[in-house]
Amino acid sequence: MGLKNTALFFLAILLPLHISPSSSSSVFSSETSGFATSVLDVSASLEQTRQVLFFTPKRFPPSPQQEQEQTRTAPTSSSSFSVRLHPRDAVFNPHHRSYKSLVLARLDHDTARVKSLVTKLQVALSHNNMSDLRPTETELQPEALSTPVSSGTGQGSGGYLARVGIGQPPQQFYMLLDTGSDVNWLQSKPCVDCYQQSDPIFDPSESSSYSLVTCDSQECSALDTSACLYDKCLYQVSYGDGSFTVGEYITETLTFDNSSSLYGVAMGCGHVNEGLFAGAAGLLGLGGGSPSLTSQIKASSFSYCLVDRDSNKSSTLDFNYSALPGHSVTVPLLRNPKMNTFYYVNLTGISVGGRMLPLPASTFALNDSGRGGVIVDSGTTITRLRRLAYYLLRDEFRIQTVNLRPSTTGDTFFDTCYDFSSLTSVTVPTLSFHFSGGKSLRLPAKNYLIPVESNGTFCFAFAPSSSSSLSIIGNVQQQGTRVSFDIANSIVGFSPDNC
Ligand SMILES: *[C@@H]1O[C@H](CO)[C@@H](O)[C@H](O)[C@H]1NC(C)=O
Ligand SMILES: *[C@@H]1O[C@H](CO)[C@@H](O)[C@H](O)[C@H]1NC(C)=O
Ligand SMILES: *[C@@H]1O[C@H](CO)[C@@H](O)[C@H](O)[C@H]1NC(C)=O
Ligand SMILES: *[C@@H]1O[C@H](CO)[C@@H](O)[C@H](O)[C@H]1NC(C)=O
Ligand SMILES: *[C@@H]1O[C@H](CO)[C@@H](O)[C@H](O)[C@H]1NC(C)=O
Ligand SMILES: *[C@@H]1O[C@H](CO)[C@@H](O)[C@H](O)[C@H]1NC(C)=O
Ligand SMILES: *[C@@H]1O[C@H](CO)[C@@H](O)[C@H](O)[C@H]1NC(C)=O
Repeated sequence: MGLKNTALFFLAILLPLHISPSSSSSVFSSETSGFATSVLDVSASLEQTRQVLFFTPKRFPPSPQQEQEQTRTAPTSSSSFSVRLHPRDAVFNPHHRSYKSLVLARLDHDTARVKSLVTKLQVALSHNNMSDLRPTETELQPEALSTPVSSGTGQGSGGYLARVGIGQPPQQFYMLLDTGSDVNWLQSKPCVDCYQQSDPIFDPSESSSYSLVTCDSQECSALDTSACLYDKCLYQVSYGDGSFTVGEYITETLTFDNSSSLYGVAMGCGHVNEGLFAGAAGLLGLGGGSPSLTSQIKASSFSYCLVDRDSNKSSTLDFNYSALPGHSVTVPLLRNPKMNTFYYVNLTGISVGGRMLPLPASTFALNDSGRGGVIVDSGTTITRLRRLAYYLLRDEFRIQTVNLRPSTTGDTFFDTCYDFSSLTSVTVPTLSFHFSGGKSLRLPAKNYLIPVESNGTFCFAFAPSSSSSLSIIGNVQQQGTRVSFDIANSIVGFSPDNC
């Protein structure tokens, strides 16, 4: 490590970077370096850090009239429909006294989120041989519930929410949308144990479309963990971060934006629920497994656009769209042979300032035993890369930014930060993801340099995967990009500037 850093230091000195003698100029340029560059709008990012603390919570649904106006016009095919997506902090006021404390809370939750994804994968890989022989119902294990690993902060905090009507007549709820899990559920009366949510708890007795799922049904046998009680199918989901939900498995009517209804969607009616789940009433799983919403409605495709986590704008989650947006970078959608929840892409390289990192070809490969690989996840905030890739990326980025003023932050999550407090915009190296087939996706500068304090401290928004060989493309890196999953044709599309 010491040797490597020394080598990099000399390398940095030898590189023909132009270092400006004065930093009083508000726009700093490193264009003479010969590396490809992008411009980061420092003022715009900082302005949002001030506003995010004061958003008015959207506790109540807009009137149906407004919702209708906001809904995307001109559905592209008769079966397509969409729902508005809101960043979590715009819906539930984060109540932090400073932007820094908000960032620290988000990073804590993000660490728990990644841990729960990795746990899910490890459980799937270790049970794989058993699962082929597994009976369709396994016993619920109550003891598993009494040993939470942490307080269950991992689910939802970095996530995006949609207002969804459940039941007939529809009761409106904020639901988390999660590409990293499959089972849909919501907290339901009677509550044995419910965490605090912003909407009133769902009351099955007020819905005429509520229906119990029987034990021998296809829906019940699609669950990983289920049990049978007087021919009622019971479900359980544990998220590996201490959070879980248990209850009856039911079918219900879901209404999106008060207009498109989906009938008979199987979901959990959770009577024992622990975790935070960002204060949402429940979760809709968009993963690739059979209990997920996307699988149940046989969606041939879905796409989302994640607006900036600090903004109070909204975007849409579209199902069954008929064509990819123009200017999409299209790459193959891969599946893990051992676990079908996650959406993998064949990332083959990363470049900084136009220079490819010298990564071994196998770095991001998903192998036959289900290890390695890169998933695209809506609920993880910061992209995680395998250690070697992260350190090569970070070091190259540091080399190309020696002309920028570094900053040390109080926390240890990020190891590469800058002081942009005297700048309104700054020129930084480009950063692109390269995929098999020669396609590349160039990220906007604000998708890899994010503010961590309102006073102008920005950090390089990547992190090493802790112990796992799994890499995850998180939502900071997806912001402002419409990400389309063409399930029928196994293609993922990235369309920049398309929220
Ligand atoms: C989505 O499209 C697929 C394929 O065309 C179709 O089978 C499915 O019913 C559609 N889903 C909805 C909810 O319209
Ligand atoms: C499953 O079991 C077979 C032999 O029983 C073994 O060869 C294979 O490696 C196992 N697969 C996993 C993923 O453990
Ligand atoms: C929206 O829902 C409300 C009550 O939930 C209902 O009165 C209204 O007619 C609905 N509007 C549409 C367009 O379905
Ligand atoms: C969004 O934020 C802007 C700027 O703070 C504010 O003017 C606007 O009213 C907010 N909109 C909502 C719906 O909270
Ligand atoms: C799969 O990848 C993991 C992690 O990269 C590695 O440890 C393992 O040996 C690989 N297995 C095979 C069969 O290639
Ligand atoms: C920003 O504030 C932190 C303390 O919260 C301080 O350590 C840091 O030096 C400040 N940065 C600038 C550029 O003022
Ligand atoms: C991923 O890309 C590499 C390099 O182009 C290729 O060799 C490999 O076969 C691809 N993997 C899959 C599963 O498509």
